Amino acid sequence: MQATITVLSGDGIGTEVTAVAVALLQEIAALGGHTFTFQEALFGGCAIDATGDPFPAETQALCENCDAVLLGAVGGPKWSDPSAKVRPEQGLLRLRRHFNLFANLRPVRAYPMLARHAPLRADLLEGVDMLFVRELTGGAYFGARQEQGDGDTAYDTMIYTVAEVQRVARVAFRAAQARRKHLTSVDKANVLASSRLWQRTVTQVAAEFPEVQVEHALVDSFAMQLIRTPSRFDVIVTENMFGDILTDEAAVLAGSLGMLPSASLGEGTFGVYEPIHGSAPDIAGKGIANPTGTILSAAMLLRHSLNLPEEAAALEAAVQSALEVGARTADIAEPNLPTLSCADFGERVRAALRKVH
Ligand code: IPM
Ligand code: MN
Repeated sequence: MQATITVLSGDGIGTEVTAVAVALLQEIAALGGHTFTFQEALFGGCAIDATGDPFPAETQALCENCDAVLLGAVGGPKWSDPSAKVRPEQGLLRLRRHFNLFANLRPVRAYPMLARHAPLRADLLEGVDMLFVRELTGGAYFGARQEQGDGDTAYDTMIYTVAEVQRVARVAFRAAQARRKHLTSVDKANVLASSRLWQRTVTQVAAEFPEVQVEHALVDSFAMQLIRTPSRFDVIVTENMFGDILTDEAAVLAGSLGMLPSASLGEGTFGVYEPIHGSAPDIAGKGIANPTGTILSAAMLLRHSLNLPEEAAALEAAVQSALEVGARTADIAEPNLPTLSCADFGERVRAALRKVH
């Protein structure tokens, strides 16, 4: 097949990790006889430096004319002055909003061989395999916000419509149906009106999916359960900001934030795929970042946007087998194993890919 992929490597380690994922996608294309065309565009802090805009019109046009976007990370100390008018993160929010990418899929699994990097006891990590479905275009991220007076008052608005909750709930129910048929909906219905609407709507949508068992959890209690009994969760659906916070928390289960991929999807097949880690300015340019989250994001891209499930599974299997035979970056280093650079880790995955093919 032929596909066009826009690469927004962004800032910090974004460039290093996307380079590895692109090389592996090229390998997949070569092995399977596909033609993938990659087009790079400015996004985030580097786009602010070059054009004054974190999501320039040219970048938007390239994203509109492709099958999927592979994204690295945005942001860094250079652009994080709180009084700055333009920030890299605004580009990310505009990208999500422009393409109506309302469902953010963040799978989290524990890797037995990385258990020593997780702060939890190994027995608690057994069988941890969950999927967060985070609402991505609503809530406090996009509600009315203002600073008032002499800057002594400020507000943000957490706002949801029934239609917004229904569509993301359906994504989560469908995912649960294809997995272990269990869905946890996380809210704060004992305090927030938007959460009561959320809970009521999820309960209504549940009637369409009789096979899926649904439970509602309050976000504070869920944050605790997530660490206390992580293996009992299958699919979790939650609003934008709760999802942002809880997925960083869940990342510790995988042993490193560097392991986690994500897919941001709308109604069609187009999607934006990015690791959940940020630009990591402290290690940027050193070539030591863990590209796993980006590689697994590329696998999600193959599955969701290009309808290449076998290629996706092959890439995931290659990551798994590279880890099994001891490929480790600095964040998941092992005393008796060599610590690989970002690029070398990618080469180990490539070697594994050739074997599984
Ligand atoms: C994420 C990030 C973003 C978010 C930031 C960079 C705006 O933390 O994708 O989780 O809050 O959504
Ligand atoms: Mn986040």
